[in-house]
Amino acid sequence: MESLNDISKEIVKCTLCELCLKRTNAVPGEGNEKADIVVIGEAPGKNEDLQGRPFIGMSGKFLTKNLESLNIKRDSVFITNAVKCRPPNNRKPKKEELDKCRSYLVRQLSSINPKLILALGTSAATSLGIEFKHLSEIKGKVIDISLNGKKFKCLVTFHPSFPMRFPSARKAFLSDLSMAFNLYKNLST
Ligand code: URA
Repeated sequence: MESLNDISKEIVKCTLCELCLKRTNAVPGEGNEKADIVVIGEAPGKNEDLQGRPFIGMSGKFLTKNLESLNIKRDSVFITNAVKCRPPNNRKPKKEELDKCRSYLVRQLSSINPKLILALGTSAATSLGIEFKHLSEIKGKVIDISLNGKKFKCLVTFHPSFPMRFPSARKAFLSDLSMAFNLYKNLST
């Protein structure tokens, strides 16, 4: 099985799409290589691009705070994104960018083999091949997915920027995170 480190080395040199032209750093992801839970966001923002680390800006702080409120240490999970380079002005990644970057995500998931994938928002869900018209159809549900013949369980919730902006969604976000971590505990026993 290839190591996360080998995959990261490829990601930082990637030129598969035009997002490479404007990046300062690609952001492969970070955390526990043997994590039971992999958290997938959308794409690096400004701070992430500058430092080459995922979720270290405002939405990252919000995510980390929510994880910690459930007693989950950030470094116990693996955190990555659907696309590894920052889209200009933080626009949503285009379909072709998600498509080009998907193989890195699938390889990372195969290498880690987590018990549960936590997909934050529509780009992460799309990248995992989940079909939906609106996030509400899949939010808070455990979905069985198959990537390169390997089966995974996935729970989809909001991207943290949504509950950050709309406080009324914070309870639902935290309750989805809590469900994900309780589910993973049940999968482990
Ligand atoms: N938003 C994301 O989806 N990922 C990051 O790393 C930062 C912000």
